[in-house]
Amino acid sequence: MELEAYCAWLSQAGLDAPWSRPGPLIQSKQTRVEPYVWRWADIEPRVRGSAEFVAPGRGAERRIVRLANPGVPERTSAHTISIAVQYLLPGETAPVHRHTPNALRFMLKGHGAYTIVEGEKFVMAPGDLVLTPSMTWHEHGNEGPEPVMWIDGLDSPVVRYLEVLAMEPRAKTVETTASTGAFAGRTLHYRWDDAHRELLRRADDAASPFDDVIMEYRDPVSGASVLPTIGCYLQVLRPGVETKPHRHTSSAVYHVVRGSGSSTIGDDRHDWEVGDFFVVPPSVPHSHRHRGTEPAILFSMQDVPLLKALGLYYES
Ligand SMILES: [Fe+2]
Ligand SMILES: [Fe+2]
Repeated sequence: MELEAYCAWLSQAGLDAPWSRPGPLIQSKQTRVEPYVWRWADIEPRVRGSAEFVAPGRGAERRIVRLANPGVPERTSAHTISIAVQYLLPGETAPVHRHTPNALRFMLKGHGAYTIVEGEKFVMAPGDLVLTPSMTWHEHGNEGPEPVMWIDGLDSPVVRYLEVLAMEPRAKTVETTASTGAFAGRTLHYRWDDAHRELLRRADDAASPFDDVIMEYRDPVSGASVLPTIGCYLQVLRPGVETKPHRHTSSAVYHVVRGSGSSTIGDDRHDWEVGDFFVVPPSVPHSHRHRGTEPAILFSMQDVPLLKALGLYYES
């Protein structure tokens, strides 16, 4: 029997001989995620422009504009993390629903925005972080006098890959509270003032050569990362700091909260300013450099907990 005939014979039975094709059995795969910077000057007017075309409500669910990485066919920011900016006008609400992806919110602009999670209301001031873990009922609203914007970060690309992506709408507000629900004891709201104060306190300690001063938001009771798939970090690059390059198997999406600087990702230098977002793909060497006189503060969402849970986190 010829090899070709043998392979056809295998195929008839739903079998395959990978050694019949050239190349090693396990081929290394380069990431398609591209280092990319989204400028706030580009994002903000386009997010405001979305109000003309879509309103939050059943069907569309949320008025969001997603940060699409040109290297990710599914139009998410990285292959594991989906980032969008959500926009609500005064008096608007986004209906209650729940879904299998874990989500986080990082408040950007405006006052009076809230998220209700399992019946508990969290008012979101700029810089606040609010979690809506997998399958928690949640809704949003804007009770302030001006439009509000925040970052939505989801692990939906991972959930989609696992083929368990699902969303369930609900007719009306959930009455139960988190204190009696399955999420009792878990911290879902991290306030900017607390996080910022803690970051500045740590700025006196020894700094990381790769990140300058960085801290991870962690549950105060369990010590766990905020989500099983995505960890959130706040870091400050102090004036004059230039970090050493390193790389890791995890990916990161950064948002510039304050200040300006540049990051060398792979071979290219990317300048960033307040409000910008940028992505560091997996295993790409990167370093950060501060510019200007004011310390630069970066908020980042990184898939470190996922890689660690799988035993695939490597750093060099
Ligand atoms: Fe949601
Ligand atoms: Fe890094």
